[in-house]
Amino acid sequence: MALHIDKNICIGCGTCVSLSPNVYKMDDDGKASVHNPEGDTKENIDMTISSCPVTAISK
Ligand code: F3S
Repeated sequence: MALHIDKNICIGCGTCVSLSPNVYKMDDDGKASVHNPEGDTKENIDMTISSCPVTAISK
């Protein structure tokens, strides 16, 4: 699965990291990135996508 965070849009709220820490991590720049797109169920990943307040996550 091609899961992606647009760092130009991410505001670093951390919701995705809280919901699915095996998939996302917070980077030194204060924004999140995908470190393991296979790290959670499709359902949970879909939930993180819809939970991002600025719609920065796409697949
Ligand atoms: Fe950024 Fe959205 Fe995650 S703002 S930290 S990609 S929930």
